[in-house]
Amino acid sequence: MRILIFGTGSGLGDLLSVLPPEVQVIGLLDNNPSRHGTIIYGKPVYAPQRIGDLEFDRIVVSPRDGSAIRNQLVTMGVQRERILVFYSTYDANLRKQVNEDTDAINRDLGIGMHPLSLCTMQMWPVADLDMKSTEDDYCRIMAIRLASQRILARNTPGAIAELGVYKGELAATLNRLFPERTLYLFDTFEGFSENDLADGEEKKHSVASVGDFQDTDVDLVMARMARPENVIIRKGYFPRTADGLEETFALVSLDVDLYKPIVAGLRYFWPRLSPGGNIFIHDHNNRRYKGVKVAVEEFVDATGAPLVQLPDFAGTAVLSK
Ligand SMILES: C[S@@+](CC[C@H](N)C(=O)[O-])C[C@H]1O[C@@H](n2cnc3c(N)ncnc32)[C@H](O)[C@@H]1O
Repeated sequence: MRILIFGTGSGLGDLLSVLPPEVQVIGLLDNNPSRHGTIIYGKPVYAPQRIGDLEFDRIVVSPRDGSAIRNQLVTMGVQRERILVFYSTYDANLRKQVNEDTDAINRDLGIGMHPLSLCTMQMWPVADLDMKSTEDDYCRIMAIRLASQRILARNTPGAIAELGVYKGELAATLNRLFPERTLYLFDTFEGFSENDLADGEEKKHSVASVGDFQDTDVDLVMARMARPENVIIRKGYFPRTADGLEETFALVSLDVDLYKPIVAGLRYFWPRLSPGGNIFIHDHNNRRYKGVKVAVEEFVDATGAPLVQLPDFAGTAVLSK
């Protein structure tokens, strides 16, 4: 696949960063005459009038105002199907158009960008994140991804942990995002525990039964890990499974759905979180598991820990130190 890229602004760099190696960029186009004849990112910049002299399969339009450029190219005689529009940022009103264009660019160039969700700030390829079944959770996953980039860039010390692993969907992503860090995975691997439900307290908050989420096991989870050598499984009832562990943490996912283990997770991980670290608490605004929010708000009131809420699928709360 040989492509021309229209536009030499910031969208160009974003596009180049996601193109697979088999896509060959043969040159750049720009309406600005001062750019013509220059070399940017190692590629020659041509005036759009030169299109007729160039051999290409697609033109990818990279500036924010993609529709106007597309119209310009169509007027110049380029077939509409050969013009792909790339959006590195977007306006919510453009969502439908963006998703149609993203489908086309994924299909024709084999990129694999996710369709936009409403809270999308930037698009990244997602193939490396093992998130096929978490499409509804794009906002949460990308927030975790941003947090991971910041933690790594600032060398925030500590291990990574998830309490509430189930089949390892998010754990696999954490393992990829932090390829050099230890990842602790805490779960009964037998579903909700009697310890958390037996006293009937949870009934005030949620619809949950002993054994929910029991259809999993450690081997299944480990088979999903890209870096299994970094993973330490703590199987059993939390907080008992943290006994004797001496660690600090840079990023923690709490995804245990119920009041008691959320309380236990916050009490355990918050004091052990490094400055600059984050705790992501899933289901903060999930109407099925209302105990999560009760536990988090009580904890925040008691400790003054700063909380931000994400507008993702089940509502996530983020605590940051
Ligand atoms: C919603 S699932 C986790 C989903 C998972 N994070 C994912 O990416 O798919 C909740 C998990 O919390 C676990 N869990 C709940 N209470 C627990 C406790 N006290 N100790 C250990 N695991 C617990 C359950 O076994 C279940 O697997």
